[in-house]
Amino acid sequence: MLIRKAPELTNADITPKSVYLDRRKFLQAMGIIGATAAAGKGLLELAFPTQSAFAATKLTGLAKSPFSTTEKQNTFEDVTHYNNFYEFGTDKGDPAKNSKNFNTSSWSVSVEGEVKKPRRFTMDEILKIAPLEERIYRHRCVEAWSIVVPWIGFSFSNLINLVEPTPKAQFVAFQSYFDHGQMPQAKYAGIDFPYVEGLRMDEAMNPLALLCVGMYDETLPNQDGAPVRMVLPWKYGFKSIKSLVKIKFQQKMPPTTWNLSAPSEYGFYSNVNPNVDHPRWTQSKERRLGEIFKRPTLMFNGYGDQVASLYTGMNLKKNY
Ligand code: MTE
Repeated sequence: MLIRKAPELTNADITPKSVYLDRRKFLQAMGIIGATAAAGKGLLELAFPTQSAFAATKLTGLAKSPFSTTEKQNTFEDVTHYNNFYEFGTDKGDPAKNSKNFNTSSWSVSVEGEVKKPRRFTMDEILKIAPLEERIYRHRCVEAWSIVVPWIGFSFSNLINLVEPTPKAQFVAFQSYFDHGQMPQAKYAGIDFPYVEGLRMDEAMNPLALLCVGMYDETLPNQDGAPVRMVLPWKYGFKSIKSLVKIKFQQKMPPTTWNLSAPSEYGFYSNVNPNVDHPRWTQSKERRLGEIFKRPTLMFNGYGDQVASLYTGMNLKKNY
C-alpha cells in the first residue's frame, strides 16, 4: 500500500529476485530453511509450537478445491519476500526480515458480537473446524501487482455457522494482533493499528472467503499472516487481513484501516475492478510477480461467476 505519492508502480518497486534469492541461499547454508521440511506429522498432531518465519509445520491430508486456478503458481520465495504487513515495516522485504521472532504460540481468536454462541477458538480448535483444503487463488494487490498462491484453509462460512449469528449480524469486523513490543517498526507505518477490516455478511458467507492457516503445504510464515488470516480473492489484497485475533459480528458497517487512512482512495468494498481506477494509477492492468509484461486485470479478479451476484444493482464506481 502506498503512503508515499507515486503515480504508478515501476520495476524499482519490486525487490530484485537476486537479492532475496541470495538471502535464501545464505539461510539454507546456515541450515535454517532445511529444518522446515519436517514431514510426516498428522494434522491432529499439530501443536503450533513457537513459530518463526522459517519454522513451519507440514500440513497433510489436504483436499483439492474446485475453486483453484490452474495458472502457474508463484514460488514460495516470491510470496514470502514481497509482502505488505505494515506492522513489520513498509518496504516489501521488511515483513520477512522483521517478523522472524514474532511469537504466535498460544494463539487464540475471539469471536463475539451478534452471535448466539460467542467463544474463543485456540489454533488447535480452528484447525478442526473443517477439513483443510488447498485453494490456489489469484491474489491481486491494489498496487497493481498479483501473485498465484496455493493457500490452505477452509471456507470462513464454516466458522460462522458454528457461532450462529443473530439476525442483527449484518457485517463482520476483523482485527489483527498488535503489540508495539513485537512490532516496533509499526510506528513508522503512517497508519493506525491494530489493523482492522470488514465484510458484509453475505460476502463473508460466500464459499470463496477463505479462513487461511497455511500455504505451500505448510503453516503460514509469519510475514504472510501467521497463524491465521483471511484470503478474499475477488477483492484487493488489503482486505485479506493477517494474524487475526478478533472477529466481531455487528449491525453497523465496520471501519477499515485503509478507508480510515485515505477515504478517497480506499472504500469498504474494494472489489477488484479494472474499470475503476485508483485516483493515482490505473487498475486496468497488473504485473504478475516475476513477469515482465503486464496483463489485463479481470473484473472481480476473474471470480465473477462466484461473486458478481452479491453486488447486483450496486453502483460499483460509488461503492469502490
Ligand atoms: N494485514 C495486516 N494486519 N497488516 C497489513 O499491513 N496488508 C494488507 C493485507 N493484510 C496488511 C494485512 C495488504 S496491503 C496486502 S496486499 C496483503 O495483506 C498482502 O498479503 P501477502 O503479503 O500475503 O501477499
